[in-house]
Amino acid sequence: MLKDRKVVLGVTGGIAAYKAAELVRELVRRGAKVRVVMTDHACKFIAPLTFETLSGNPVASDLFRAPGNFEIAHIALAEFAELVVIAPATANIIGRMAAGLADDLLTTVLLATEAPVLICPAMNAKMYSNPVVQENLARLVSRGHAVLEPGYGELACRAEGEGRLAEPVEIAEEIESILTTKDLRGEHILITTGPTQEPFDPVRFISNYSSGKMGYALAVMARRRGATVTLVSGPTALPAPRGVEFVPVQTAVEMRDAVTTHLEEATVVIKAAAVADYRPAVCEPVKIKKKEGSLTVRLERNPDIISEIAQRKGDRILVGFSMESDHLIEHARSKLMEKGMDFIVANDVTEPGAGFRGDTNVVRILDREGGVEAFPLMDKIDVAGVILDRVRKIRKNGRILDGR
Ligand code: PMT
Repeated sequence: MLKDRKVVLGVTGGIAAYKAAELVRELVRRGAKVRVVMTDHACKFIAPLTFETLSGNPVASDLFRAPGNFEIAHIALAEFAELVVIAPATANIIGRMAAGLADDLLTTVLLATEAPVLICPAMNAKMYSNPVVQENLARLVSRGHAVLEPGYGELACRAEGEGRLAEPVEIAEEIESILTTKDLRGEHILITTGPTQEPFDPVRFISNYSSGKMGYALAVMARRRGATVTLVSGPTALPAPRGVEFVPVQTAVEMRDAVTTHLEEATVVIKAAAVADYRPAVCEPVKIKKKEGSLTVRLERNPDIISEIAQRKGDRILVGFSMESDHLIEHARSKLMEKGMDFIVANDVTEPGAGFRGDTNVVRILDREGGVEAFPLMDKIDVAGVILDRVRKIRKNGRILDGR
């Protein structure tokens, strides 16, 4: 997380400067300490007061007038920064950075800092695709700077194309990723999440309340920590996380097939999906019409995906979830032992703040040696963190259940 991490945000002169205000809010919401540096052109698009109010810090823009009690503004800001992000980054700042110019406060900070630099371009699509801009970006990347590509869509000049500033939440996520220690590098983590939908005619299905949030949080956290991530997801309302291989599925059988296809490269499998245990035996090709009396839908068993994986486990770390509404530890322990997992994450959906849909969860981690570790109510992103810590611990100890 960004708690107390020090970020310098450079805002340059483009219409997307207004989105930088939203970025400051997002960074502050995540606990970061933000200092904003604006170019003269940026001040024509948005007032420094906006950033001062949102960041709670003075805004710097003049190379020769230090804000607050900074002695030499560009050196103080360069040393303060754990990361410098330029958002929006115009073609002009990209060119000046590539040329190594230092003719205003922002460019001098950039030359003086040893912190990583993230560039978030935003400009007209033709300007962005201009070979000069692309060459300059390539040069900056070769010097170790990170670039978050702009999105595709309608631009301020009414044209459509690639050039829209990445969304503030995406930029904040990229900052989190750059600032997170890469302790899972080398792992390929296959995560399943969301509900499955089991149709019985073209307009109806059996499903459950899973939102996918728990598994998406795992994917985001694993990627931040340097793992390669494949996310197999049942239908959810969430956008696919950036930087992960995303495999959408609908039914349990599709999920089983996707997991089987991607199992080979995986070193860790985490099954957070709420898979329907049963599916309608028949899916009618046309909508079932309403009639007098009741309707019976015959159900048959779905494959138990995690048990199937356990047969091919090898030296992969296999993590399951247990979703219960009674006898949490008892049921979770029998699933842990019967389904051949290395550990299981148990949650009780009747506990306030736990389980389906919300942004929080309350979990216990059970291991094969009989240990139970209980955690308080936490955000799902932090729950993801403790699960991945456990994965790392098992990898370090080499105590993996032999699945051969
Ligand atoms: O998605 P959210 O709204 O964020 O909610 C999160 C969650 C409550 C769905 C999540 O925390 C959770 O508990 N996921 C597992 C739900 C579940 O199906 O539990 P289970 O006890 O029924 O299954 C045990 C394990 O076997 C699970 O890892 C499950 O993925 C797996 N399973 C179950 C059935 C099946 N046919 N195949 C499986 O692989």
